[in-house]
Amino acid sequence: MLSSRFSPPHFLPFSSRHFLRPFSSLSPSPPQPPTTISSPSSSLPLFLRPLSHSTSLSSLLSFHHWAKAQSLSQPCLSSDLLRQLSWFLQDTTSPHPTHPSTVLLRTELDELYSLWTERVEKRKPFQYIVGCEHWRDLVLVVQEGVLIPRPETEILVDLVQEVEGFKDGVWVDLGTGSGALAVAIGKMMMDGDSMGRVLGIDISPTAVEVARFNVQRYGLEGKVEIRQGAWFEPLEDMKGKVTGIVSNPPYIPSSDLPGLQPEVGWYEPRLALDGGNDGTDHLLHICEGLAAVLKPGGFFAFETNGDKQSEFLANLLSTKWRQLFQKVKVVSDYYSVKRFVIGYRS
Ligand SMILES: C[S@@+](CC[C@H](N)C(=O)[O-])C[C@H]1O[C@@H](n2cnc3c(N)ncnc32)[C@H](O)[C@@H]1O
Repeated sequence: MLSSRFSPPHFLPFSSRHFLRPFSSLSPSPPQPPTTISSPSSSLPLFLRPLSHSTSLSSLLSFHHWAKAQSLSQPCLSSDLLRQLSWFLQDTTSPHPTHPSTVLLRTELDELYSLWTERVEKRKPFQYIVGCEHWRDLVLVVQEGVLIPRPETEILVDLVQEVEGFKDGVWVDLGTGSGALAVAIGKMMMDGDSMGRVLGIDISPTAVEVARFNVQRYGLEGKVEIRQGAWFEPLEDMKGKVTGIVSNPPYIPSSDLPGLQPEVGWYEPRLALDGGNDGTDHLLHICEGLAAVLKPGGFFAFETNGDKQSEFLANLLSTKWRQLFQKVKVVSDYYSVKRFVIGYRS
């Protein structure tokens, strides 16, 4: 997920992989929403709105020049902003099919000016402006109140893929947020005759609404169920039945929150970030609950703030709870930070 300023080299929320957008949200790969599903808030995310506005090509060029100048006025951010500006134009505009001097827009031109001002001057995350994040092969809807999924969390999906027979089991994503992990695992189960299913849990009503929207967008209603509640509470019916648990819980020490960069600290939900005094409040609660829900041989993988937290938790699981778990180990992320703890129920 993300770390605080105090655990370099990882304090920025968006690593370089974040800059490599796999494809435009306008490409045919991501699904368009069926007209029957409701959007996660009163209005559709910008990138999904119809191209029902227009402007002249010269007016759009003027906007582009202005937005570029705005972006260059922030030396520390300008290369990110310029990259995001080109995505912004991809996500919000399209050439008119018959009038080359006209451009179709998903919102009024004036709104493009306001939105870019919010990005540059108010440091609103780009993903909250366009309403989506590209993550693995998914284009996930996000909005304020829901964590923007981070590149390193993709590794949890790779770890699930390595579990023998994962496609036929019941998986749980604790603290599902946008539904990123739940949707990715559910989507992998769609190849072949999988019997598996996924339960995504979150306490936040906004996260639950957004995760359900993402599940519907990918046509996974029969595979992925989103339940609202605190950690294991919505899983009373699943005791001893779960094949695997993944989680990216809040793990930033409370005292590190003021040091986060504005895009994170000012906009992303504290509920998704704050891990308590030393960052391990939720992680410890999850460790304590794993054994009751997992079936014998069941797998778990969770993300941490890195290094010390991972080592501490892996040590706890393989000493205090050594009768309950086996093959506990720490797995590193793309930056060689010991980011994940994995293991199996005995
Ligand atoms: C770091 S975010 C992870 C979101 C998503 N899994 C991802 O990786 O993008 C942590 C999530 O845990 C949720 N959460 C916080 N406290 C919770 C609790 N007591 N029970 C269930 N979910 C909780 C937050 O609402 C948030 O969506």
